[in-house]
Amino acid sequence: MDKSAKIEFNGKSFTFPVLTGSENEEAIDIKNLRSEVGLITYDPGYKNTGHCISNITYLDGENGILRYRGYSVEELCQKKSFLEVTYLLIFGDLPSKDQIEKFQNDIREESLVDEDLKQIFKSFPKSAHPMGVLSSLTSALIAFNPQNETKISLNDKEGVSADDKMYLSTVRLLAKFPIMSSWTLRKIKGLPLNYSNNNLSYTENIAYMMFAKPNQEYVQNDIIVNALNTLLILHADHEQNCSTSTVRIVGSSYAGLYASISAGISALWGRLHGGANQAVIEMLELIKNDNSDIDKYLNKAKDKSDPFRLMGFGHRVYKNFDPRAKIIKKAADQVLNDLGIEDPILDIAKSIEEKALNDEYFIQKKLYPNVDFYSGIIYRALGIPTDMFTVMFALGRIPGWIAQWKEMRDSNNPIGRPRQIYNGPTHRTIS
Ligand code: SDX
Repeated sequence: MDKSAKIEFNGKSFTFPVLTGSENEEAIDIKNLRSEVGLITYDPGYKNTGHCISNITYLDGENGILRYRGYSVEELCQKKSFLEVTYLLIFGDLPSKDQIEKFQNDIREESLVDEDLKQIFKSFPKSAHPMGVLSSLTSALIAFNPQNETKISLNDKEGVSADDKMYLSTVRLLAKFPIMSSWTLRKIKGLPLNYSNNNLSYTENIAYMMFAKPNQEYVQNDIIVNALNTLLILHADHEQNCSTSTVRIVGSSYAGLYASISAGISALWGRLHGGANQAVIEMLELIKNDNSDIDKYLNKAKDKSDPFRLMGFGHRVYKNFDPRAKIIKKAADQVLNDLGIEDPILDIAKSIEEKALNDEYFIQKKLYPNVDFYSGIIYRALGIPTDMFTVMFALGRIPGWIAQWKEMRDSNNPIGRPRQIYNGPTHRTIS
């Protein structure tokens, strides 16, 4: 039975359809609200607003559920590689053996980076934040793939279909983004820039490009590769978060894939979003250096007059445990134990979690650890500098951004253009 919702306004009654998704989520369809009622909605931060219908990722914030194309992240972390999950997100199903081999080989085919792009990279000062560098380099990729970017959605006369162009742009970005990301790490560490080792799997190659040292035989550390695989899968998509919505709205103007993802990287950089994993470690260090006075900082977080927030806590959707935080917390223990690392800030993080989860303020506001609370501790244990933590988040999120952008483009939705309520000066003339 089709559901509907009534709005009473100015003595009239208006009826709007209610949409129901495959997981029984419901939304009032207000596409015609302004034309029929003369009203718009007001919803700062879009907390109650859906801007698309999507088949990619399902979150249940009350029950702490996260699934990619119907598969739980818990099961995907245990049984699949990051590249297989990438394929799942972008093409809708887990790949067969032949499909993943072709996908991997097509990516390897694109694993060279134009030396001119390397010159652009080298022109950045060492002090440049890697997220700003990557947003710029991703946009700069357009210059090396102009045809593919500006006309990516059009079947052109040379007979190259829009689908072929989308596939080529996809494998190019999946090939080049890890190389560019590893370059930002190597620049911070003063290491020479290197390239893909196409004898390795996708995640093994990421570890190789980041950690291989000149004049030393590279010995793969499976603890690091397995930890990276889990972290990249957990960051791969998260429905309509700030950066993904940015990728979709930029693409809705018919800007290309790389331009849209470059904007998404900038949105992810913010400390309330992907930048939180860096902010968490900086916060834990601050607390450690302040006699580990956890209570002082929990009180600051609860004080409305204090701008301090407990970084890595709270979430727009999860009002229960972020399932990713549970997996990452367990992985953090495992990785530090396997690598024989004692990190005092892990103990501080665990104490904060325990105190906060028993504190009325955090309980009442349903604030739990999110994906960023423990991830930085693992990155630190892997020898990744703090400024690189959000790059690791972006490295994982690339497949989700590609999948969401492709879905937006295939949906033929109108250009994203929210309305407003004007509250400025009414008409006046120059005196
Ligand atoms: C990510 O959206 C996604 O899916 C994002 C992400 C993804 O995978 O893409 O999951 C990744 O961005 C995770 C979130 C990382 N950010 C942080 O850890 C930063 C700290 N968290 C907060 O800034 C906040 O919780 C947000 C930004 C995550 C969510 O903010 P909302 O949904 O806008 O909620 P809100 O700011 O309106 O907070 C509701 C209340 C407020 O108090 P009141 O005004 O009602 O009295 O809770 C309080 C807030 O002050 N609150 C916090 C808090 N988070 C919310 N108080 C102290 N510390 C916090 N961390």
